[in-house]
Amino acid sequence: MAIMNPPARYGGVAQLLHWTTVLLVVALLGLGKAGLVDAEHPGSAAFMWHGSLGVLVLALAAARLLWRLVSPPPEFPSTMTRLGRIAARTMHASLYALIVALPLSGWLAASSEGSRINFFEIATLPGWEQLSGATAAGQPAAQREQASAGASAEEGENLAKESHDLLADALLVLVSLHLLAALKHQFVDHDGLIRRMLPAGPKSAGGGPPAR
Ligand code: HEM
Ligand code: HEM
Repeated sequence: MAIMNPPARYGGVAQLLHWTTVLLVVALLGLGKAGLVDAEHPGSAAFMWHGSLGVLVLALAAARLLWRLVSPPPEFPSTMTRLGRIAARTMHASLYALIVALPLSGWLAASSEGSRINFFEIATLPGWEQLSGATAAGQPAAQREQASAGASAEEGENLAKESHDLLADALLVLVSLHLLAALKHQFVDHDGLIRRMLPAGPKSAGGGPPAR
């Protein structure tokens, strides 16, 4: 299997990154939707796995975006309409945005509760307030404005959690549409597009000469 992306399909590296991300995202959505993740209980196994796998998704997203620069994605099949290609590009860009924004918002939600990500029990990652150098609770400035800071910290916590929940729902919807689109290509258009993201596909999979 080619490592780089050949002209009409995805290569080994892109496929490995895509399908590993799919497995991780399914596990993360499952853990989250099952109600097992709670920033107030950072010591739980579910919290450790959710945070660690989430950070891994962020790292894989960064690797994929860099890999796209090294080895650009294949052209869309020439059988795809202009509108179809715009829809696919918009979908892929939105999925990338979400797999970056979700781990960041989750990290922020955890930090806003003072909880830390214990990355696979190997290393404790810093909280966002540590990264941004914001004043920690208990320092003189924070003490002076304790009452109002307390209220706004709680608002911040809620906002971070709500954003994370909303982004997770958006990902669920977009992934479902992405899956439906892949199935439409397979069973309605019969253009072999899914095989572009699978190891066994023929070199020409994708329905003829490429066109953008
Ligand atoms: C792609 C990565 C991620 C996905 C898909 C994801 C998904 C989810 C989902 C579906 C929920 C449940 C939301 C609901 O109640 O409906 C959740 C909750 C949560 N996630 Fe994530 N998550 C990701 C990354 C992270 C990371 C890196 C952290 C950092 C620790 C994190 C922290 C949390 C926390 C603290 C909650 C509970 C929020 C609350 O109490 O409302 N997530 N996540
Ligand atoms: C967590 C869920 C998923 C995410 C975040 C995701 C994300 C993406 C992204 C960003 C791309 C564009 C790759 C690039 O050009 O750089 C892509 C392509 C693709 N995805 Fe997914 N995907 C997910 C699930 C699935 C599933 C369940 C299928 C099932 C068939 C699938 C099939 C494909 C196919 C066939 C392509 C290649 C499309 C083409 O040939 O142009 N994906 N995916």
